[in-house]
Amino acid sequence: EIIKSDFPILDICIRGKPLVYLDNAATTQKPKRVIEATTNYYETQNANIRRGLHELSEFSSSLYDETRKKTQKFINAQSSNEIIFTKGCTEAINLVANSYGRINFKHGDEVLVSEMEHHSNIVPWQMICEQTGTKLTPIHITDDGEIDIEDFKNKLSEKTRLVALTHISNALGTINPVHELIELTRKTDAVVLIDGAQAVGHIPVDVQELDADFYAFSAHKMYGPTGVGVLYGKKHLLEQMPPYQGGGDMIETVSFEKTTYAPSPRRFEGGTPNIAGVIAFASAIDYLERIGIENIHAHETALTQKLHEILSEEKFTRIIGNPKLKSGIVSFVMEGVHPHDIGTILDTEGIAIRAGHHCCMPLMKRLNLSSTARVSFAIYNNENDITVFANAIHKVKEIFYP
Ligand code: ALA
Repeated sequence: EIIKSDFPILDICIRGKPLVYLDNAATTQKPKRVIEATTNYYETQNANIRRGLHELSEFSSSLYDETRKKTQKFINAQSSNEIIFTKGCTEAINLVANSYGRINFKHGDEVLVSEMEHHSNIVPWQMICEQTGTKLTPIHITDDGEIDIEDFKNKLSEKTRLVALTHISNALGTINPVHELIELTRKTDAVVLIDGAQAVGHIPVDVQELDADFYAFSAHKMYGPTGVGVLYGKKHLLEQMPPYQGGGDMIETVSFEKTTYAPSPRRFEGGTPNIAGVIAFASAIDYLERIGIENIHAHETALTQKLHEILSEEKFTRIIGNPKLKSGIVSFVMEGVHPHDIGTILDTEGIAIRAGHHCCMPLMKRLNLSSTARVSFAIYNNENDITVFANAIHKVKEIFYP
């Protein structure tokens, strides 16, 4: 309840009922301190960064760089220069595809992605593969919703240039053994990008321990503002990568004859970034650290277990995926009921869930489904939310199985 009271939006009513927010994989709600940091920035700190010689600009520049250091520590990167701010996880992946991919992929090469990837970890690779004559190969998943390690081993070859995998599936909640998968790729020259959108803020992430070459995530899925993403990249890789977008502040010198570029991370941050968002993101990291990622993970795991118990006892209801390691994301279907109808009925009870293909159409195809209903937990959810949800599921059953 104390944590809940940190989030002003959790006090509102939806359709006359107290909001029960269970769509956290789409975006989490924001604690008061993050909202206040945004307001405070515009009220007392607003100036463009790295451009002005005046005090306000120096101040906002230093706050921006402090967030970079905080982010570095949070995921244990070696240097803050390995942290690039983007507008989201999607842009971070597109940056790697269009910069690293453009100079390193060639005809006959291969990029591996798993069948459980979000579209944002498929489409950017597909686009660059089409342009470079590289083959995009899916790694199969098992019926339990885990990456098929044997298939992964078989597909890794000297042709593999890059492997792009999700840390936690946004549709199934599977926690992939990314450390082991990265280790396997070390027998080849391939680099690995991990989509950590559903992991950071839910489980401990240490990019050095994982040995990830690139790691991408979004602030808005970890209690921070929308419009801020992070790309972590190993220094030696970022140094050899060309800029992704040209503009102000990403250069050293510009002339019509030749332009030279600033080192990373500035090289990849052309134009005025989301300064307010990045600065407020620091407050989200502080908030997470105060509660402790291990505590958050334990809490979300307990809620997931409870929900599993409830849903497995429900007739006509099937949980999708049965991985050994799972985060606070639960996808399910009900026989003869379209997931959109489940979502709509739950909405009338003030409950927010996501229903659909979850931007994972290839995964849905693999599972012979068109869509699922999905509950996803965050730190402020509690057993009462599950009770309200379970009662609403009974309403769905009363309507569809009278
Ligand atoms: N990727 C987000 C989700 O799974 C939007 O809902």
